Amino acid sequence: MLDSAQRFSHTLLTQYVKPNDFVIDATMGNGHDTLFLAQLVGKQGKVIALDIQEQALQNTTQLLQEHSALDQCELHLLNHANIYQVLNNNMSISAAIFNLGYLPKADKTIITNGDTTLQSIKQILPHLQKNGLIILVLYDGHTGGLEEKESVINYTSSLPQKEYHVLHYHFLNQQNNPPQLIAIQKR
Ligand SMILES: C[S@@+](CC[C@H](N)C(=O)[O-])C[C@H]1O[C@@H](n2cnc3c(N)ncnc32)[C@H](O)[C@@H]1O
Repeated sequence: MLDSAQRFSHTLLTQYVKPNDFVIDATMGNGHDTLFLAQLVGKQGKVIALDIQEQALQNTTQLLQEHSALDQCELHLLNHANIYQVLNNNMSISAAIFNLGYLPKADKTIITNGDTTLQSIKQILPHLQKNGLIILVLYDGHTGGLEEKESVINYTSSLPQKEYHVLHYHFLNQQNNPPQLIAIQKR
């Protein structure tokens, strides 16, 4: 079976994230991506993870503790539009992931949106190392999701080809709005 967008995001991360790397989870949620990244970078690496909901921090902390992976993670209650506050000037990262939308099993009106997502991408781009990736998993089945998806696709389509490769991964014949993936790779 072909990878779903979520699974493909992990396939890409496995390919490009190495032990000791610095990486970002821009939408921590329940911590599944944070844990996945923490296991890839190992104890000498660093995962910076952000969310605007206290519940996300609590759930992620618990998951990381259960897997003895909290040491290499820095969790911030912070809007990813302000990610510059936790990035040092000289920090070079191999990957960042945005799993957009709302926190599963929580308030579905607290969602990511195109404006803050783009602000965050623009702050992370200068920190990408060669071949480094920003991965976005996009959902358009909820209110606001379609607008966010279009903003992300419009912006990333305009990135200069000499500096970045931009991949759009999506199924053409599936019903019920399956998630899509955008990957930006620094050349
Ligand atoms: C789909 S969930 C993330 C799932 C998560 N990556 C996981 O593995 O469980 C989206 C998350 O983005 C968070 N979020 C919404 N707007 C945000 C923002 N501006 N900055 C950071 N996080 C935000 C939500 O609170 C929610 O927890």
